[in-house]
Amino acid sequence: MQLHISPSLRHVTVLPGKGVREFMKVKIGSRRLSYRMVFYSVLLAAFLLRFVFVLAAVDSIDGQTGRCSTIGCLGKRLGPRILGRRVLESTVPEVIYQVLEEPVDQSEVQLGPEIPQTLEDFIAEMKDERPDAKTFAVKLKAMVTLLEQRTRTAKIQEYLYRHVASSSIPKQLHCLALKLANEHSMNANARLQLPSAELVPALVDNSFFHFVLASDNILAASVVASSLVHNSLHPEKVVLHIITDRKTYYPMQAWFSLHPLTPAIIEVKALHHFDWFTKGKVPVLEAMEKDQKVRSQFRGGSSAIVANNTEKPYIIAAKLQAMSPKYNSVMNHIRIHLPELFPSLNKVVFLDDDIVVQTDLSPLWDIDMNGKVNGAVETCRGEDKFVMSKRFKSYLNFSHPLIANNFEPNECAWAYGMNIFDLEAWRRTNISRTYHFWLEENLKSDLSLWQLGTLPPGLIAFHGHVHVINPFWHMLGLGYQDNTTVEDAESAGVIHFNGRAKPWLDIAFPQLRPLWTKYVDFSDRFIKSCHIRAS
Ligand SMILES: *[C@@H]1O[C@H](CO)[C@@H](O)[C@H](O)[C@H]1NC(C)=O
Ligand SMILES: *[C@@H]1O[C@H](CO)[C@@H](O)[C@H](O)[C@H]1NC(C)=O
Ligand SMILES: *[C@@H]1O[C@H](CO)[C@@H](O)[C@H](O)[C@H]1NC(C)=O
Ligand SMILES: *[C@@H]1O[C@H](CO)[C@@H](O)[C@H](O)[C@H]1NC(C)=O
Repeated sequence: MQLHISPSLRHVTVLPGKGVREFMKVKIGSRRLSYRMVFYSVLLAAFLLRFVFVLAAVDSIDGQTGRCSTIGCLGKRLGPRILGRRVLESTVPEVIYQVLEEPVDQSEVQLGPEIPQTLEDFIAEMKDERPDAKTFAVKLKAMVTLLEQRTRTAKIQEYLYRHVASSSIPKQLHCLALKLANEHSMNANARLQLPSAELVPALVDNSFFHFVLASDNILAASVVASSLVHNSLHPEKVVLHIITDRKTYYPMQAWFSLHPLTPAIIEVKALHHFDWFTKGKVPVLEAMEKDQKVRSQFRGGSSAIVANNTEKPYIIAAKLQAMSPKYNSVMNHIRIHLPELFPSLNKVVFLDDDIVVQTDLSPLWDIDMNGKVNGAVETCRGEDKFVMSKRFKSYLNFSHPLIANNFEPNECAWAYGMNIFDLEAWRRTNISRTYHFWLEENLKSDLSLWQLGTLPPGLIAFHGHVHVINPFWHMLGLGYQDNTTVEDAESAGVIHFNGRAKPWLDIAFPQLRPLWTKYVDFSDRFIKSCHIRAS
C-alpha cells in the first residue's frame, strides 16, 4: 500500500496494492473540509476495504460534501460502492469515528518510537497485532499526526527555500567579487580613482544628468550602468554615482576601472566615504541597529514562530522572512538620505540594481514636477492586474489606529526602482525626519504597522510629495510572473525585475532574461572565469 500527499495538501492518493490498478484518489477542493478529515476517510476506506476492489473512487468531492462535518458522513460519500450499495457505513465501527473526531491533543501525541513512522510499518503492525478497533484508531491518528507534522515542516522549508533562493548570493556572483578583489590588489589599473581627477568637478555640476545607484551586486550594477550609458543620446552628460558598502568597494572599483563607460562619468564610493556618514549621529544606522534588535525578538523569536502548530506554513515562512537581514540593509534605506549625501545636487534619478534602461533618460529632467519631490509611477492602475493592484492598504496595516487615522486605504501606491528626486524641493520638507519617526513608531508597536521592506515607510514619508509620471518610464513586475510579454517589456523605457525571479538567478524567467543579459559581455575574462553564462 502506498500513499501520496501532494505538497499543496490538496491531493491524496492511496494505492492499496502493488502494481494493480486499484487506487483511490481524492482532491480536496472544499474549504469547509479539513485536510485531515478527508485523509482519515481515504485511509479508512483503503484499510477496511483493502481486499475489495477499490476502483478509481472519487475524483473530486467538491460540491458533494458541502454538508458533511464528520468523518462518518464523509466516509459514506467517499466510500466505494459494491453492486450499487455503499459499503463503508456498515463496516466501520463507531469507536473509530469517535477517536478520530476528537481534537488532537498535542501533549498526548508523544512522537515516540511506538508510533509507526510510515504506512508500511503501520500495516505490518496491524497485521501482526490484530488490535481492537480503538487501538487501531489511536495508532492511525498518531501516525497521521506525525505525517502531517512532517509535511508541515517540509512546507515551511519549501517556502523558506524559495526565499533563500532569491536572496542569497549565487556562487558565480561571489566568485566575481573575489576575482575582482584579487585584481584590485594585483593590478594598478584596477585601482584608478573613479572618476579621474580632471572629471571630479562634474560630480557636483548641475548641468549634468546625475544618476544614483546603490548596490552591492557588481554584475547587476554593471548592467544598469552599461544599459544607461549605451542608450543615452548624450553619454558625455551622464554622471552615475554608484554607492556601495565597505566589502564591495574594492571589487566594484576594480570593475569600473577596467570597464570604463567613457564618455560617461562613473563615480564609485562606499558609504563610509561620505562626509555626512562619518560625522556624528546618523539616523539610518541607529534605526538599522534598533530594527535588527526588534526583529530578532519579533513574536518571541524564530523558535516561537516555528513552534506555533496552528499557523499556516506560508505565514510562518513570512514571519521568519521578516527577520531576514535582507530587509534591513543600509543599502535599502539609504535613498531616504539623498539630500544629505549629495548636498550640491538639485535633481537626481535614483535607480535600483534590478532594472535595465532601454531608452535615453534625459527627458526625465524636462518633466515638470509641480513642486513635488518624488517622480514615480503609480502601481494601482494598469492592465497587469497582479502587479498593478497596489494601494496603501496593500502595504500598511489599516487595523492599526495610527495608520487608519492618518492615511487613506485606497490611495494609490507608487514604486521605487526608477524615481526622479528633486533634492531642492526635498530639502524644504521634513521627509527624512518623517521617515525615521515612522520607523520608530513601527518598532515601538512591535512591527505591527508594516512588516517588510522600505516601501511602506516611503509611502508614508513621501505622502503628498509624489508626482506621478508616465508608466512608460518604469515597467514593473518582470520578476513576478512569466506572462509579461517580451514585446511589452521591450517597449518600456526602463524595465524592473522586482520580485523574486532576479535575472542573475537560476529562477529567472527564461524569455525575459535576454533583456538583461544583452548588457553582459560573456566574453569578458572575469565573467567567463566565474562561469556566468547567458542561459
Ligand atoms: C498561533 O497562530 C494562531 C493562528 O494565527 C494564533 O491565533 C495564535 O495566537 C498563535 N499562538 C501563539 C502561541 O502565538
Ligand atoms: C498574467 O497572469 C496573471 C495570472 O494568471 C493574470 O492575472 C494577469 O492578468 C496576466 N498578465 C498579463 C499581462 O497577461
Ligand atoms: C518640519 O518640522 C519642524 C519641527 O517639527 C516644523 O517646525 C516645520 O514647520 C516642518 N516643516 C515643514 C515644511 O513641514
Ligand atoms: C495590525 O494592527 C492591529 C492593531 O494594532 C494588530 O492587532 C495586528 O496584529 C496588526 N497586524 C499585523 C499583521 O501586524
